[in-house]
Amino acid sequence: MRVLLTGAAGFIGFHTAKALLARGDEVIGIDNLNDYYPVRLKEARLAMLEPEANFTFEKFDLADREGLLRRFENEPVDAIINLAAQAAVRYSIDHPFPYADSNLVGFLTMLELARAQKNLTHMVYASSSSVYGGNEKLPYSEKDAVDHPVSLYAATKRANELMGHTYSHLYGIPLTGLRFFTVYGPWGRPDMAYWSFTDAVLQGKPIRVFNNGDMKRDFTYIDDIVDGVLTVLDGPPNAANGAPHRIYNIGNHKPENLMYFIWLIEQATGKTAEKIMKPMQPGDVYATYADISAIQRDHGFEPKTSLEEGLPQFVDWFRSYNG
Ligand SMILES: NC(=O)c1ccc[n+]([C@@H]2O[C@H](COP(=O)([O-])OP(=O)(O)OC[C@H]3O[C@@H](n4cnc5c(N)ncnc54)[C@H](O)[C@@H]3O)[C@@H](O)[C@H]2O)c1
Repeated sequence: MRVLLTGAAGFIGFHTAKALLARGDEVIGIDNLNDYYPVRLKEARLAMLEPEANFTFEKFDLADREGLLRRFENEPVDAIINLAAQAAVRYSIDHPFPYADSNLVGFLTMLELARAQKNLTHMVYASSSSVYGGNEKLPYSEKDAVDHPVSLYAATKRANELMGHTYSHLYGIPLTGLRFFTVYGPWGRPDMAYWSFTDAVLQGKPIRVFNNGDMKRDFTYIDDIVDGVLTVLDGPPNAANGAPHRIYNIGNHKPENLMYFIWLIEQATGKTAEKIMKPMQPGDVYATYADISAIQRDHGFEPKTSLEEGLPQFVDWFRSYNG
């Protein structure tokens, strides 16, 4: 299968590319290599993919609609995985426009690209647990109302789901949105707490603990996410119940306390964290907890990696990456 993968130099995109290549798919990876976090890390991920015969990388910005549509006009793809986006809740508070460019205009370009492909089997795209915003009912279910986002990032991800539904309805394009729940693991993201806490603890620097440590997150190990993405890709929705568009939570289904998460980092690094307690940050939510019964039922998804197993794997990788 010939797969167009956006965000191929990103954390989840890199791992997804590796898994697609390992099973014999051809991958055309695109990414704009923006400097939201160090480009060196994105280049290092690409350097591991580029020797693969079935992998090609092309630098593109999703917002370049003419360039992208032209590029695939005579060389259609069988499937699309759209992971490129401006990620992160907190950054969207002070930097709104990259979210509009990548997540709204860029996402619309991807829908148009999907529409232009003659025999597209499926487009899978990244949504986020942040669409649940201020919901207080746990676990979060796809049946819950999600019209109270508390960050612009969340609003753009919810907009993607609505735009996806429209394109699926109008043009019959099989589309699936995956609401990822805090993904972590080797080759991860420097802006996320598992990375910045590990980095600070290893250097003996203090960490800032928001909401005085009273938060819960459903942490999902990268290999489980990639398994889910590929399994879902292989099972496109049909139009039997209306538009061929589905949305699934994909998480570990096990919320962990922030203080326990810090304790696990202390265990894995062998160092004690100096904690500076801080109030809740704008745009943050108290807890995330995925109800995964829908993706279990439709795709047999089963997360396999506990935080106790996955976090030390991240810390080991982090140590070797940083010498
Ligand atoms: N990691 C998580 O915990 C998490 C949770 C929920 C949702 N998500 C979503 O999953 C997807 C992948 O996330 P990630 O953690 O791998 O993030 P990432 O930032 O590592 O990867 C995203 C990649 O997209 C690229 N990109 C951004 N804007 C682009 C544009 N306009 N054109 C081309 N490329 C562009 C970036 O350069 C980056 O390499 C994103 O859509 C993100 O919003 C991630």
